[in-house]
Amino acid sequence: MNIEKIAILTSGGDAPGMNAAVRAIVRYAISQKISVFGIKRGFMGLRTGDVFEMNLRTVSDILHRGGTVLYSSRDKKFETDEGVMEAVEVCKSKKIDAVIVIGGDGSLKGAQALSEKGINCIFIPATIDNDVASSDYSIGFDTAMNTAMEMVDKIRDTAQSHEKCSVVEVMGRHCGDIALSTGIAVGATAILIPEVTQDFEKDVISRIKYTQKMGKRHFIVIVAEGSAKSTEIAKKIEVETGIHSRSTILGHVQRGGSPTLRDRVVASSMGCHAVDILMRGEKNRAVASKCGNIIDCSLDSAVEAKKIFDVDLYENALHISI
Ligand code: F6P
Repeated sequence: MNIEKIAILTSGGDAPGMNAAVRAIVRYAISQKISVFGIKRGFMGLRTGDVFEMNLRTVSDILHRGGTVLYSSRDKKFETDEGVMEAVEVCKSKKIDAVIVIGGDGSLKGAQALSEKGINCIFIPATIDNDVASSDYSIGFDTAMNTAMEMVDKIRDTAQSHEKCSVVEVMGRHCGDIALSTGIAVGATAILIPEVTQDFEKDVISRIKYTQKMGKRHFIVIVAEGSAKSTEIAKKIEVETGIHSRSTILGHVQRGGSPTLRDRVVASSMGCHAVDILMRGEKNRAVASKCGNIIDCSLDSAVEAKKIFDVDLYENALHISI
């Protein structure tokens, strides 16, 4: 069947670069004589039929903007069979041949649920957490890491001036990717991530004391939100080392801002790849980045994929943060 009409949605936590992906899909699909509809507020808008036609100019001036012009949501109703069926009815009544879902892990499961009810879905990974296991890279991760690095660099100035310990909590849900990369980039003395069961005395306190003995006067500790509470970690460090310690939770600042060059380019390539899949006549695929190439796999295998933790990166961090 020839694809004539597609729809796009962005879902879950917004990620810088989502707009670049939307723009690429709209421009490339229209150039191939496919009409494109935007769905507002993710799966919620798909359920309620909040859909509008997009054109080449609808996506002007959005490439460099963070957030998502299509808006996003975490739709509880779509997690039920009834919710999915509402979306199926909308797709049928509006004669939508395929839906391109841009989002993270939860959105991938949403796309799979919709595909199981007969709607052709193509998934594009976009989440600052970088926790979509089927892809080495998710749109938004680079921007989020760079934002976190810049914030910690600023915090370091005051930690250095007052010879303190700064404990910084970064996002990532159950994934430690933002924490690990940021920790390396800012020279953190300790990095706490959910993928590694840590011994607080050995991995935090002893490291701080050792580096202090080696002449270090200020300390940065990066905590992934899925591993511990930065407020408690800061208190414990102060009690056990006597070093004045402060915690900072970076929060949503990591989700905002203009996407980096990497995120704009990856998002544009993934967007075009999604349209290519549909033009090849394929169904229910997940776009992914593997070893630097943009590829695709079945939605089922994407859902089943297990994320591989980068042990080397973690060990390197331990070797050099002394
Ligand atoms: O998935 C992106 C993310 O920012 C996670 O890092 C974080 O745990 C979560 O979303 C926060 O969600 P909310 O914006 O609903 O507080």
